Amino acid sequence: MTTRVLYLLGSAAPPVLNVADAIRQAQGQGWDVCLGLTPTAACWLKDQVPDLAELTGHPVRSEYKVPGEPDVWPAARVALVAPATFNTINQWALGLTNHFVVGFVAEAIGKGIPLATMPCVNSAYAQHPQFDRSVDTLRGAGVSVLYGEGGFIPNEPGKARPESFPWGLALSEAARLAENVRGPVSWA
Ligand SMILES: Cc1cc2nc3c(=O)[nH]c(=O)nc-3n(C[C@H](O)[C@H](O)[C@H](O)COP(=O)(O)O)c2cc1C
Repeated sequence: MTTRVLYLLGSAAPPVLNVADAIRQAQGQGWDVCLGLTPTAACWLKDQVPDLAELTGHPVRSEYKVPGEPDVWPAARVALVAPATFNTINQWALGLTNHFVVGFVAEAIGKGIPLATMPCVNSAYAQHPQFDRSVDTLRGAGVSVLYGEGGFIPNEPGKARPESFPWGLALSEAARLAENVRGPVSWA
C-alpha cells in the first residue's frame, strides 16, 4: 500500500468547486488523495461527488463514520485543509468538532499528523477579531497556516477570483511537511 496518502479536506469557499483540478495536480505529484468535504462544501459539489470518488479511488467523506464501521481511507501521511473558510478556521481553532472535517483535523493535532491549511477569506472576514486569534492558535499548535505573505492574501468582498486560488503553494507545503515525517499516521 502506498504511504503517499494526502487527505485533502475542503470547505465551502468557491475554490472548492475546482477541487477536481487540485486532485489531478496532487495525483500528478504522486499523491494518493482522499477527499473530505464539510457538509456545505459537499452540498455545493453534490453532483460531482460520484466523479470525485472515482477520480480519487476512495469514498468522498463529509460525515463521521458510525461506531464500529471500518475506516474507508488509508492512513494519512499529511492533511491539507483547502480552501479553509472563516468558519472552518475558527471551528478548528476553537475545537468545535460537530462535523467530520474539523473533527479530523482537530484530533490530528494531538496525533501528530502533519497539517497545512490555505484559508480563503475576504478582507472583511479577516478583520473580525477572532480570525487572527484562530490563525495564531493553529500556528501555535504546529499547523502550517498559509495565510499572508507567501500564502493566501485576502481579497476585497465580492472580488474573489477562485481560479487564482494558490493550490500549487498548498500542495508544495503538504509535500514539504510529508518529507519531515517517518511514515503514515493512523487515524483509527
Ligand atoms: C457564493 C458564496 C461564496 C462564499 N465564499 C466564502 C469565502 O470565500 N470564504 C468564506 O470564509 N466563506 C465563504 N462563504 C460562506 C461559507 O460558505 C459559509 O460560512 C459556510 O457556512 C462555511 O461552512 P464550512 O466552513 O463548514 O464549509 C461563501 C458563501 C457563498 C454562498
